[in-house]
Amino acid sequence: SGKISIAIDGPASAGKSTVAKILAKDLGYIYVDTGAMYRAITYASLEQQVDPSDEQKLSELVRQLTISFKQGTDGQLVFLGDRDITEAIRQPNVTNLVSQVSAHKEIRLELVRRQRQLATSGGVVMDGRDIGTAVLPQAEVKIFLVASVDERAERRYKENIAKGIMTDYESLKAEIEARDYKDSTRENSPLVQAEDAIRLDTTGLSINEVVTSIKNIIKNKV
Ligand code: C5P
Repeated sequence: SGKISIAIDGPASAGKSTVAKILAKDLGYIYVDTGAMYRAITYASLEQQVDPSDEQKLSELVRQLTISFKQGTDGQLVFLGDRDITEAIRQPNVTNLVSQVSAHKEIRLELVRRQRQLATSGGVVMDGRDIGTAVLPQAEVKIFLVASVDERAERRYKENIAKGIMTDYESLKAEIEARDYKDSTRENSPLVQAEDAIRLDTTGLSINEVVTSIKNIIKNKV
């Protein structure tokens, strides 16, 4: 069918999901937000008061959970069973705990299995931390999206203001750095650029410029 797999990895708040969504829409591909899946598990573990260091309990929990994506009028929605958890998984309680939950091997094995299933039909844009290295190592296009931590904190800060959420810039920056550190130094599938990924520094670039350069990379690869 000529449909390919596009893997977009990189540190927190580098703009991965923003560009992945636009690319998927323009190409008529499906978009898989793997971070949302780790967030959904973290949300459920908080709700059911499962100790985030208890890998055994967490993996039992994961097996009971159905995580799905549905297209809403205002973008993609994330569901846990029949509950819409789109907003809930972006709250600080989830964000601050997700790296601890996602570090467990059993959790990653199960989610990687589900992520590959979602990609079997081809024509997928998937974003996360280990897509090019572990989930879809055969992806035709691999992008590693980076930006300075100041710019990432600044973008997040402005997004929050636009949503009416008051946060202070320094704590946002600290949260981003702490999460990147945990994700990059864990034992299982750490955040690392795949050897065959193209590194794109988006510092100072608009969303449109980033989308355009990825489309050029796709053209040259297909
Ligand atoms: O992309 P997002 O910021 O929503 O991801 C939340 C967290 O989920 C990351 O900080 C990381 O701990 C985990 N994650 C992961 N592997 C992925 C995607 C996300 O470990 N493929």
